[in-house]
Parts: sequence; structure tokens; C-alpha cells
Amino acid sequence: MIIPIRLYGDPVLRGGAEDVAGDSAEIQQLIDDMIETMRGASGIGLAAPQVGRTERIFVADLAAEIQFEPVPEEASQPMAFINPEIVWESEEEGDFEEGCLSIPDITEMVKRSERIRLTYLDRRFRPQELEVGDLPARVIQHEVDHLEGIFFVDRISAFRRRLLRRKLREIASGKAEADYALYRIL
Ligand code: NI
Repeated sequence: MIIPIRLYGDPVLRGGAEDVAGDSAEIQQLIDDMIETMRGASGIGLAAPQVGRTERIFVADLAAEIQFEPVPEEASQPMAFINPEIVWESEEEGDFEEGCLSIPDITEMVKRSERIRLTYLDRRFRPQELEVGDLPARVIQHEVDHLEGIFFVDRISAFRRRLLRRKLREIASGKAEADYALYRIL
């Protein structure tokens, strides 16, 4: 089921997420719904708060980008990351233009670590550890931020943010358009 995506300004996106205690039909359904919602919106990552939930879960379509060894069975489809923790970040950083399904029509250059190491549970709740660079590292950092209540626009300069202030205020008041379903609090 596609779930309307929460917009910047929605309190659930600032609240942070909580670790998932264990597997359940509800969690599996949430993951299916998040993958369907991400695909429906042509996104490459989606975090639970973006669909109004507080579980520490994100989904991402990284399969083609990550060189796994060995290749996990789910690598050909969007992956679920449960209780993810970034356990290492490279000091080397890079700039890349980011956007977010919760902030339609805004993109900004964001500086992030080039490589990260992540621990998480896969959707069968098996512990995993992954070291990635490039686009996967960027998507994962962006999505983990969502689980902490952080947006990519929090990571740009105060000057750039000031230029976006009016547009962000409009989005927060529900004035946003997208070709996917949005959840408007007002
Ligand atoms: Ni986002």
C-alpha cells in the first residue's frame, strides 16, 4: 500500500525514531509499504518517519550501486535497514546535490563523508555490516539523518538556508506539489 509522504514541517519528521524490538507481521507490512511508496515516488531512499512512523527503519534502492561480497539474496531489490547505526565515517568528505521526497522541488549541495560503515538488521533480522562509498554512502547518511530528525537542509550553510526560508515555510504549511501522494497536516 502506498502511504502519503510527510512534508518538511510535520512534527513526526523531527521526532526521531526508536529501535525495533523484534520481527512481526506489522514490521514486514511496513517494509513492504515503504518500498512500494518509495518506488511509487521514484525515490532511492525512504525512512519510516516520512510515512508517519517512528520505527528505526529505512529502505533504499542501492542494489545496483553496491558491490556486495558475497551477494546477499535481496541485493536485486530495494533493501530494508532495521536499527541502522553508522559506526564509522571517513574524514574525507565530498559535495553532492541532494533532494528529499519530504521537501519537493528543492535540491542543495550537501557535504558528507565519502565512506561509511553501517551496522543494521536485514529484513530477516540478521545482523549485517556494510562498508560503502559514493552514492550508497550518501543515501544511507541522508536516511539515517531522517531517523534522527535531521534534514539535508539542516546541513547547508546558514546563508543558503536563509535563501530557502520562504520556500521551506510554504512546504511546512502544506503548499507543495509532487507527482506522488503527500500527507498534509493542515
Ligand atoms: Ni529525505
